Amino acid sequence: MSILEKPILLLKTDSRDTEWVKTFGEIAPEIEMRIWPDVGDPTEINCALLWAPPAELFASLENLEVIFSIGAGVDSLLRCPGLPTGVPIVRMVEPQLTAGMVEYCLFNVLRFHRLIHLFERQQQAKHWEELTQRPAPDVTVGIMGLGKLGEALARQLKTLNYRLIGYRRSAVEIEGVEIFHGADQVKTFLGRAEILVLLMPATQETRHILNEETLAYLPTGAFVINAGRGDLIDEPALLSALDSGHLGGAALDVFEQEPLPEENPLWNHPKVLVTPHIGSITFPPTACRYIADAIRDHKATGQWPNLVKTEAGY
Ligand code: OXD
Repeated sequence: MSILEKPILLLKTDSRDTEWVKTFGEIAPEIEMRIWPDVGDPTEINCALLWAPPAELFASLENLEVIFSIGAGVDSLLRCPGLPTGVPIVRMVEPQLTAGMVEYCLFNVLRFHRLIHLFERQQQAKHWEELTQRPAPDVTVGIMGLGKLGEALARQLKTLNYRLIGYRRSAVEIEGVEIFHGADQVKTFLGRAEILVLLMPATQETRHILNEETLAYLPTGAFVINAGRGDLIDEPALLSALDSGHLGGAALDVFEQEPLPEENPLWNHPKVLVTPHIGSITFPPTACRYIADAIRDHKATGQWPNLVKTEAGY
């Protein structure tokens, strides 16, 4: 049965199935839900909402017309060996997911800018000392990855009057942000980023974009916030830059291996804040509305919103 006649959605999450099903029931009762692995007749399924699917999931879904990604990032989906070619993949672009990412990055920019990471340590030592602070307009925040999330972050940082620079693959204009693009501008961009926020997707091109060489471009005492993907950073190089004093600190939400292994030195590093990939969370109420609207609009227009460019990897 085609999605135009009746959407039948396969759900594969790693938690909160009941909440998803209940919310879809309230928001979009016209969509029939099936929860992996209880797929019923797999040939009836025409859409899927997925996070990190197992390879075998796709084997019998012959009539899949669209895949919705639960996460903002689609790397785990694109890496899946069974992923059918030619089925459009719709990225999750819902307001609460964007808001969550902006909150996470904003909090960490403020934490480093206002030296809260140092005051936390002073408190542990019962040490009272005023440290020299700088006003926001004197602090340059660099956003690496200026897609929907990066742009939303830039808008909020602008309201706090930070000096903003941004890096992306190709040129674009964003009001209030000095843009750098292309491989030959990475060095200049990083050289100015006192607080660097990584929001890039994981692709072959972005793997270890922060490495021994590029970390050295950052100004001495710079801070790194990684809310994109663990693959963006060469972790041993980051640790050396922290230990040598070149970097002032790092806030990391994503890692090369997740969950972060117990023996990973980042856990106990005094300059590092570790969070368990909670930068942003997809909330069923807003996400279900986004999916229901996409399916309803598709019936009218034949188009899908926010399509993933599979060949580019994001
Ligand atoms: C992600 C997410 O893609 O949590 O990392 O949405």
